[in-house]
Amino acid sequence: MKIAIVLGTSRRNGNTANLVEYFIEQYPAQCTLFHLSNYDIAPYDYNFNNQDDDFLPLITNIIENYDAIILASPVYWYAPSAQMKVFMDRLSDLLVINKPLGRKLKGMSAGVIATGVVSKPNTCFEEIFRATFNYLHMPYIGMLYCTYADEIENIASHQQYLDKHVSTYVTTAFA
Ligand SMILES: Cc1cc2nc3c(=O)[nH]c(=O)nc-3n(C[C@H](O)[C@H](O)[C@H](O)COP(=O)(O)O)c2cc1C
Repeated sequence: MKIAIVLGTSRRNGNTANLVEYFIEQYPAQCTLFHLSNYDIAPYDYNFNNQDDDFLPLITNIIENYDAIILASPVYWYAPSAQMKVFMDRLSDLLVINKPLGRKLKGMSAGVIATGVVSKPNTCFEEIFRATFNYLHMPYIGMLYCTYADEIENIASHQQYLDKHVSTYVTTAFA
């Protein structure tokens, strides 16, 4: 199982990046990180005057070389980060001008890794991902969520929680 983890956050080495890093440390052979801040991806354009940016090469690589995609984002105002939303909007390109590639999304497993300050995020957060994956016929493998403060926190303060939940998430998700 090869897993592409796409991370969209405003803090390169912040809480969500820490959680993703911990996750990857447990499954280094399976996981590859794609940090959206390393890519130049423009918002969706109805006229597709953005096709020379980094979206198409990135999504082509993920679709052609990975079995599953995990979208990793902090909760910003009950929603995914703006960086993640831009990436998700651009999946629409695959429904309009790159349909053969888009069809390959079907059946590819998809999940979420997230951090936020609340102990349990409002259901609207996960629903955005769940509904999107459902529309794209991508089996949803669930969300690994961890509560973090506003400040950048050391992963050690979440060790017990993560030791328990990361393996449970992976076992359930990729059973
Ligand atoms: C603009 C902004 C909006 C936020 N909105 C929420 C929110 O709606 N719910 C929540 O639980 N946490 C919210 N937070 C807190 C972050 O989700 C939390 O601190 C997260 O771990 C930050 O991850 P990062 O370091 O990857 O940015 C918000 C933080 C910011 C900066």
